Amino acid sequence: EKGGYDYFMLKEIAEQPKAVADTLLGRIDLAGNLCLDEVRIPASVLREVTKVVIVACGTAYHAGMIAKYAIEHWTRIPCETELASEFRYRDPILDQRTLVIAISQSGETMDTLMALRHAREQGAKVLAICNTNGSTIPRESDAVLYTHAGPEVAVASTKAFLTQLVACYLVALYLGQVRGTKWGDEILSVIRELSEIATQVDEVLETMEPVRELARTLADKNTVLFLGRHVGFPVALEGALKLKELAYMHAEGFAAGELKHGPIALIEQDVPVVVVVPSPRGRSVLHDKIVSNIQEIRARGARTIVIAERGDAAVAPYADHLIEIPVTPTLLQPLVATVPLQVFACELATARGNEVDQPRNLAKSVTVE
Ligand code: M6R
Repeated sequence: EKGGYDYFMLKEIAEQPKAVADTLLGRIDLAGNLCLDEVRIPASVLREVTKVVIVACGTAYHAGMIAKYAIEHWTRIPCETELASEFRYRDPILDQRTLVIAISQSGETMDTLMALRHAREQGAKVLAICNTNGSTIPRESDAVLYTHAGPEVAVASTKAFLTQLVACYLVALYLGQVRGTKWGDEILSVIRELSEIATQVDEVLETMEPVRELARTLADKNTVLFLGRHVGFPVALEGALKLKELAYMHAEGFAAGELKHGPIALIEQDVPVVVVVPSPRGRSVLHDKIVSNIQEIRARGARTIVIAERGDAAVAPYADHLIEIPVTPTLLQPLVATVPLQVFACELATARGNEVDQPRNLAKSVTVE
């Protein structure tokens, strides 16, 4: 049932192109209109929304962090993303015009469920993004958009994450459509870019051997740091989470702009630092800033592992290890940038002799608070 792979995780990483394509399938018509049929919140209600709040845990929370960038950019609706376990207990401000998006692979995560119950009690509308048909979270929500990743068995979430991102982009575009901040042709162009992602993830998967080799050389390290900016920041957090849960190594993700506010003190000779580099096109100011961050940490002895867009000549000289990813629009980059981090963590776990699919102390769905 592992389809010839040693671990479910490897199988699920390999299934990502299909999972992404399946999640897009049938959700757009030729005129560029999204038809998210399962979403049962009337357009009239969505037009009145004044705030979006995303609640989730773990990897799903990282998807929600990325969604915030897309939602605010495409719809201009203020959006917050919060850990479900924090949200529930801090008396959040919600009303009938708040749209809460609960993201969960399993649909059974207790913290997320409690957050959505609390939100509904306050009158907010809840949309679930979920991978498990008929599970509790979608059943208790006002609306649901299913991710079509298929069953995810490995504890470490991979394909569910990519499909959560796709679903979030669809919801962001849909909100833009009903509120008139995004028109058919603009939506179509993003959808076209999204449609290419499956092939691009495939390309990434085909070039992963050097990443695996690199991971094996790091098996005796104590710590790995991850840096990113903009949507690359949640990607850095996700890379660190994967490494913690699979390799049982200390790993931390930082916003690269925060380096000089503290974390740079951690940099010492030979410490591996993975940096997710934004595209040099588009918001190139972010790119330039991260290149100088890389120079700073390298000058202090860090071993830089750089994930950058193919052909990014400005960053290459500062990369001890360069992992190239396909050219994508800035907001969509997490869909390709996360994949090497999954492979990296999986290989490190294997090299350290850990149980990949069933890491110690963890459960696939966390049904207690
Ligand atoms: O089923 P959910 O998406 O609600 O699960 C949330 C987290 O427990 C989950 O993403 C967890 O962080 C994974 N083990 C990460 O790989």
